[in-house]
Amino acid sequence: MSDKIYDVPSEWAQKAYVDDAHYQSMYAASVNDPDAFWGEHGKRIDWFTPYTKVKNTSFDPGHVSIKWFEDGITNVAYNCVDRHVETRGDQVAIIWEGDSPDESRNITYRELSSEVNKLANVLRNRGVEKGDRVTIYLPMIPEAAFAMLACARLGAVHSIVFGGFSPDSLAGRVADCGSKCIITADEGLRGGRKVPLKANVDAAIAQIDGGVDHVIVVRRTGGKVDMLPGRDVYYDEATAMVTDECPAAHVHAEDPLFILYTSGSTGKPKGVLHTTGGYLVYASMTHQYIFDYHPGDIYWCTADVGWVTGHSYIVYGPLANGATTLMFEGIPNYPSVSRFWDVIDKHQVNIFYTAPTAIRSLMQAGEEPVKRTSRSSLRLLGSVGEPINPEAWEWYYRVVGEERCPIVDTWWQTETGGILITPLPGATKLKPGSATRPFFGVLPEVVDAEGKVLEGACEGNLVIADSWPGQMRTVYGDHERFEQTYFSTYPGKYFTGDGCRRDADGFYWITGRVDDVINVSGHRMGTAEVESALVAHPKVSEAAVVGFPHDIKGQGIYAYVTLMDGQEPTEELRKELVNWVRREIGPIASPDLIQFAPGLPKTRSGKIMRRILRKIAEDQFESLGDTSTLADPGVVEDLIHNRQNKR
Ligand code: WT7
Repeated sequence: MSDKIYDVPSEWAQKAYVDDAHYQSMYAASVNDPDAFWGEHGKRIDWFTPYTKVKNTSFDPGHVSIKWFEDGITNVAYNCVDRHVETRGDQVAIIWEGDSPDESRNITYRELSSEVNKLANVLRNRGVEKGDRVTIYLPMIPEAAFAMLACARLGAVHSIVFGGFSPDSLAGRVADCGSKCIITADEGLRGGRKVPLKANVDAAIAQIDGGVDHVIVVRRTGGKVDMLPGRDVYYDEATAMVTDECPAAHVHAEDPLFILYTSGSTGKPKGVLHTTGGYLVYASMTHQYIFDYHPGDIYWCTADVGWVTGHSYIVYGPLANGATTLMFEGIPNYPSVSRFWDVIDKHQVNIFYTAPTAIRSLMQAGEEPVKRTSRSSLRLLGSVGEPINPEAWEWYYRVVGEERCPIVDTWWQTETGGILITPLPGATKLKPGSATRPFFGVLPEVVDAEGKVLEGACEGNLVIADSWPGQMRTVYGDHERFEQTYFSTYPGKYFTGDGCRRDADGFYWITGRVDDVINVSGHRMGTAEVESALVAHPKVSEAAVVGFPHDIKGQGIYAYVTLMDGQEPTEELRKELVNWVRREIGPIASPDLIQFAPGLPKTRSGKIMRRILRKIAEDQFESLGDTSTLADPGVVEDLIHNRQNKR
């Protein structure tokens, strides 16, 4: 923890949308009378039929139900595109920066409108209707935004699968939501390396019993791919045959907008469902206030649209606000470790939003690659995905932002749709490592293991006591799992899965997950998923996966593996298992360390004692805690003795 405090610079307090007094009064209003507050702010988007009801939500066990603006009718694509064409049709909506610095493209709101309408017509001609699910498996190219908005235009529900996921993971997600249509590319391009997206789609479809009738393929690299006549069509050929006018569907506020699969502590990834009205109001409002977005600003969020950050803060929030949003296909260290800063100079970026893992990896290369760039356009920096360690915060602040740019450390989740705890740059003093204070309408509480609400300075688990408009509505197809996962631990409250400390100023410090979820480079991985991939290998009998502190990734994946009788624990097998997991789930799930363990620590009833495995992976041999319930205390000795070293 750091005890440094950075006061709000006076220019910021004057120029930003809200200063501290304004924050205090708006926050009080938002929680004292949510109906009045959101009733007013709901008008920031256009409605075909205005709502008369605002908040209708219940966290009651057995009856969890979340509805916002429920009788309003609108359309997300209309709000993100059409309404801006009149007023700022020639303004750039999307700046696309390719993997190679030689490739970039500006797309105005007028051009965006034309692209979205054409693709919507292509989908409509292939039978996609309101409520149908469409899977998007694309790299970071403008067509990804066109595809999201084309679905929204029709009232279809998109499910984006990150391009780094394997055919297996893709197949599971396509089957779970019953997508009949997939939008993909021939190949992706990242750091000069090709990703065989279309081949992965073919492999995924082969695993599912039919059901996918249409595959639309963007030509990104021009690489050769198999095209199945009747099912597969090239994007450019299909869009060339339709008009650029497609009416925007009238969509109810509570009709679904998208599904996004995310890992939990148990079972398969959950389809987090977000709906239309509340989500867009919340994404756009948080984007405006937290990034203090003013017309004319160039805004860049480095996330991938495969994650929620890309949904809310590359596409929906910024475009709803008529912003210019930068979309980057590449990676931070290609062709050089100055790439981020070069892109900032090239496009004169004012607001830059990235993840602590990127900061830490760039920090390793020293200050020179940053300092050889200007970055004079930068005004505000943001961080998201995991707790930012004070060293990385200070480096970001001092070297990247030259002590001129406030940093907004934004805490939120796939489930929350938008940012819940964050500084507002004109209102909140900054403490490196703290996400600081709740956004309007957000009621965080810290509870102990029994659910007792703690007061004042304290440490415990983070829950949210009441609903906010951007909240997920259900787990797609499994409302019971939704209630079980988020509302049963502390009945009547939304449980975040995060631990948290609140200091004497009422500032929140997120301490990380308290469940069996690990955060690898800002991406969530369920330990259960990696374990089930490992035990699917014929030579593996048992596996237990935990997180361990990793200098760059935040957390790394540590796997304890027990082999089948007679199998030799060789280096070769270790590599084979890493590759196996990459193939089963995707590269982000690759174990960093695998320890072959003749036995795992278990209770007498056979339950694996993960607490002990976590401590060993963290090198905390002294604090293993109570080991008296172990069936065979000897296994712990062996595990400690053979602890794998960090790279
Ligand atoms: C988990 C959610 C929300 C977009 C990216 C991740 C961790 C996220 C912060 C932050 C500390 C953070 C939490 C959370 N997290 N942002 N600023 N400070 N922790 O979305 O994959 O749904 O993961 O990421 O542990 O629960 P996600």
